[in-house]
Amino acid sequence: MKILIVGSGGREHALAWKIAQSPMVKKIFCAPGNPGIAEIAECKDIEAENVEGLYNFALKQKIDLTVVGPEDALAAGIVDRFKDGHLHIFGPNKRAAIIEGSKVFAKTLMRKHGIPTADFKTFDDLKQAKKHISTCGFPQVIKADGLAKGKGVFVCKSPEEADKHIDDIMKEKVFGYAGNKIVIEEFLSGEEVSILAITDGQTIVPLASAQDHKAVYDGDKGPNTGGMGAYSPVPLITDDMQFSIEENILVPIVHAMKKENRPYRGVIYAGLMITSAGPKVLEFNARFGDPETQVILMRMKSDLVPLLLAAAKDNLEDVEVEWHDCASICVVMASNGYPDNYEKGLPISGLEALKGLDNVQVFHAGTSTKDGKVVTNGGRVLGVTTVGKDLREAQKNVYEAIQKVSFNGAHYRRDIGAKAMHKKNYQDSPP
Ligand code: AMP
Ligand code: GLY
Repeated sequence: MKILIVGSGGREHALAWKIAQSPMVKKIFCAPGNPGIAEIAECKDIEAENVEGLYNFALKQKIDLTVVGPEDALAAGIVDRFKDGHLHIFGPNKRAAIIEGSKVFAKTLMRKHGIPTADFKTFDDLKQAKKHISTCGFPQVIKADGLAKGKGVFVCKSPEEADKHIDDIMKEKVFGYAGNKIVIEEFLSGEEVSILAITDGQTIVPLASAQDHKAVYDGDKGPNTGGMGAYSPVPLITDDMQFSIEENILVPIVHAMKKENRPYRGVIYAGLMITSAGPKVLEFNARFGDPETQVILMRMKSDLVPLLLAAAKDNLEDVEVEWHDCASICVVMASNGYPDNYEKGLPISGLEALKGLDNVQVFHAGTSTKDGKVVTNGGRVLGVTTVGKDLREAQKNVYEAIQKVSFNGAHYRRDIGAKAMHKKNYQDSPP
C-alpha cells in the first residue's frame, strides 16, 4: 500500500513512525512533513490546506489511504474532495468536522443528547453576552466559537477579565469570524484527560487514555500551549471510568452525529474534565491529539493501518486493538519564548545520540533543515518520547534522554507524568 500523511507536526511524525512498521505498507508520503518524517517517508511540499493540490498528488501517485493530521485540512473539506474522487481517506468530512469547528454546535448537540458537559449559554451579540456576565458568579469560561489555533478559550476570574475577552473576541475580532459567536460556560474543576476513539460512524474502538500538560511551566503554571507533554496510561481512568466514558460520551456522540445527518468517521477526541460528579466534556476534536498521539502510538501493539483503513471503509466491526503492557511519556522541547514569540533557525544538536534506541523516539514537530543540518522552526520543536515498564521508568528514561539533545534557549517541563505518580493509589506497574 501507498499511504499519504497530511501535516507536519509531532503527531504526524508519530503516525508516520507507526505506519512505517506495518507490513502492509510499501511507501509513505507526507505533505508537507518535516526532517524527522523525511527519514521514513518522502516529503512533498504541499501545504495541509491545499486540498486540490493534495488530491491531485494522491490521484497521480495512486495513494491507497490518506491520513489527515490537522483540523484546518478537515475544515477545508479535504475528506469531501477525496471521497468525491473515490480515494480512501481517514478523517471526518466537513459537515462532521464541525464538532471541533464550532463550539456552539458541539455544546448545543451535547445538551440535546444528554452528554455530560459544563452548563453554558451561547451568544452572537456582544451586549447580551456582557449583560449575562454581569449576573454570573466567577470563574467563568469564555470560548470563541470557531477554530482559533487552540487560543480561543479563556478562564476568567472576574467580570472585568471576562469583559475584556468578550471585547477582544467579538469587537476586535482577534480570531476573525471564529469570534462571531461565543460560548460562556461554567468553570469545572478536576483533572483533564484525553480519550480518543476511532470510529466508522457506527462502531467505536477506544484508544489508550492519555493526559496532556497544556500549561507552559511546571505545576501547570503559565499560559496554555498546544501541549508540553503527555503520558499514557492515565491511572485515574479505571476500567469502570473507561466504561462510563464509552457509554455516556463516546457512543452517544457518534450516534448523535449520525442522527443529525452528519455521520462521523475518523478519530474522535474527547477532552474531558474528571470532576467530582464524573467525567464531563470540555471539547471534542475531530483529529488525533498532539502530543497525546505520540504516547498512545508508542503503546499500540497492533498494526495501525488496518484500523485506519477499516474506519475509512466503514467496516470497523471486526477490528481489535492490542496494547503493550507499558507506560509512555512524551516531553516537548520548546523554543525560548514559546507560546509567545520565539526565534527560528537555531541548530539542534544531539539527535544522533538517540537514534536506534528501542525505548526512545524523538518525534520532530517544529524543525527544518538549513545547510544540511536540523534547525528549530516552530514553538514546539521536538517530542522526546519513551516507554518503560511503568510511568516511573518511562519518566526516568525520558529525562535521561532529553539531556542528550539541545538547542539554544530550549525549555521543557520537568514534571510530565508527576501528577499521576503523586496519587495515593499509584502503583508501580500500569493498571
Ligand atoms: P478547550 O479548547 O475547550 O478544551 O479549552 C482549552 C482548555 O481550557 C482546556 O484544556 C481546559 O484547561 C480549559 N477549560 C476549557 N473549558 C473549561 C471549563 N469549563 N472549566 C475549566 N477549564 C476549562
Ligand atoms: N493536545 C491538545 C490537542 O491536540 O488539542
